[in-house]
Amino acid sequence: MFHFSGGELIDRLNNHLNIILSVLIVGVCYLLLGVFRRGKSGGNGIPGSLGIPFLGETFAFLAATYSTKGCYNFVNLRRLRYGKWFKTRIFGKVHVYVPSTSGAKTIFTNDFVLFNKGYVKSMADAIGRKSLLCVPHESHKRIRRLLSEPFSMNSLSNFVRMFDKMVQERLMKHEDGKSFVLLEFNMKATFDAMCDMLMSIRDPSLLQQFERHCTAISDAMLSFPVMIPGTRYYKGIKAREMLMDKFREIINRRHDDEEPPQDFLQSMLQRDSYPDNEKLDDEEIMDNLLTLIIAGQTTTAAAMMWSVKFLHDNREAQDRLREEQLSIARKKPNDYSITLEDLNTMSYAVKVVKETLRMANVLLWFPRVVADNCTIDGHEIKKGWHVNIDATCIHYDPEIYNDPLQFNPSRFDDMQRPYTYIPFGSGPRTCLGINMAKLAMLVFLHRLTIGYRWTVDDQDLSLERKSHIPRLRSGCPITLSALEDSKNTSN
Ligand code: HEM
Ligand SMILES: *[C@@H]1O[C@H](CO)[C@@H](O)[C@H](O)[C@H]1NC(C)=O
Repeated sequence: MFHFSGGELIDRLNNHLNIILSVLIVGVCYLLLGVFRRGKSGGNGIPGSLGIPFLGETFAFLAATYSTKGCYNFVNLRRLRYGKWFKTRIFGKVHVYVPSTSGAKTIFTNDFVLFNKGYVKSMADAIGRKSLLCVPHESHKRIRRLLSEPFSMNSLSNFVRMFDKMVQERLMKHEDGKSFVLLEFNMKATFDAMCDMLMSIRDPSLLQQFERHCTAISDAMLSFPVMIPGTRYYKGIKAREMLMDKFREIINRRHDDEEPPQDFLQSMLQRDSYPDNEKLDDEEIMDNLLTLIIAGQTTTAAAMMWSVKFLHDNREAQDRLREEQLSIARKKPNDYSITLEDLNTMSYAVKVVKETLRMANVLLWFPRVVADNCTIDGHEIKKGWHVNIDATCIHYDPEIYNDPLQFNPSRFDDMQRPYTYIPFGSGPRTCLGINMAKLAMLVFLHRLTIGYRWTVDDQDLSLERKSHIPRLRSGCPITLSALEDSKNTSN
């Protein structure tokens, strides 16, 4: 779905039509180029193979993406061959994977100036031209400023209460000792929670309908933009039209509502009478509602899934986390809801969340296009190249993280040096949902560990094919068994 990682490249060739079209385009490019220019490494160049003209190493990239080792395997293999810095060519574009904290700093601190998000037509069409992900610098600053307040730590206490209740109720439904697919559970929970927080939508059948639309839209974001029935792009654009009609209806109803729900949408609509640069128009609101849902759902759900997997494999960490959480629960009356203040006291859980995000690398790398010739860490980078801030490489760097393959939350007892920990990016495009994502994970871990033990019912470590967000192919099926002590110890 997302431009964030390699997704743009991955989904391009996702159906037969796309393959045919791409082959045609490749053919045309051959003719236009007219020459079999070998990829020059140029200057004090970064090592790496640019492969054959235009296509470069596209097939190797796709092969990794379609395998159960995941698309990052493509990067790993090239690092073994060329070292930390390497370049490659995928779909006609030169890509440099930037593996260092200083490189990450250079790019993040020059975002929107020297580095930009690449423009992808299908993405703008699907998610909307006014989306935070698509607008130019000036609008980005304004829209982002106006969207931010409801996602600040202090604004999220209602979200915490709602999500806490939701997670409790839904986990309880799985007390029957039957195995269920955790990833599906998390996808549904994060989707429903976001729609509740954003627009107070709670009706199950409406939620289901919205989720189908959103999935179709996010599939279309990286598809080939031709309006031919049956293609992903077509389905996504149709889904977008239907969803936007629904959003419009909801907004219209709000205008007549005497006691509108106090949610994210309402906080945006309340600005109606403000000066232009202090409010969002309806189109901006609608495109960004969609953006928030799409950016927030899959990422958070995948992170939750990995936390359960990592804790399952590391009993010591799990026991310690449960002990911390039970000690909080024991001080509470029956049927409490957890509060922001409680979450702030969960020092070990916070480290579990951090360590999960370090190891899971939900977004493997963050791509940018270079606006002008420049150097990064002394390497010459040309205008038009793509640079990918390789968060995964940084998070697995043994010089930064001792024994990086080990899940060890206590490593975060120490302060982090700048740009060594970047699961949410940095700079002007830092994840807008950073607080919401962390809080959602803490709430989930709280209810899970105080209420249950669990078994992971499929040990297969294969990753989902064609996904640019690393997720277990199995979806991590688990079985819960209720902990007896937790509920009684509170009285
Ligand atoms: C664990 C979950 C999450 C992770 C790991 C994550 C990670 C990221 C990262 C790395 C970026 C920056 C990408 C770049 O620089 O190219 C980003 C941007 C963004 N995220 Fe998240 N995110 C998560 C959850 C969420 C949630 C819950 C929301 C919604 C409430 C959200 C909304 C956004 C938005 C709107 C942007 C774009 C910001 C901009 O361009 O100004 N994310 N996210
Ligand atoms: C970038 O550098 C190349 C040579 O390395 C040069 O041909 C080109 O004109 C430069 N482009 C700009 C925009 O400075």
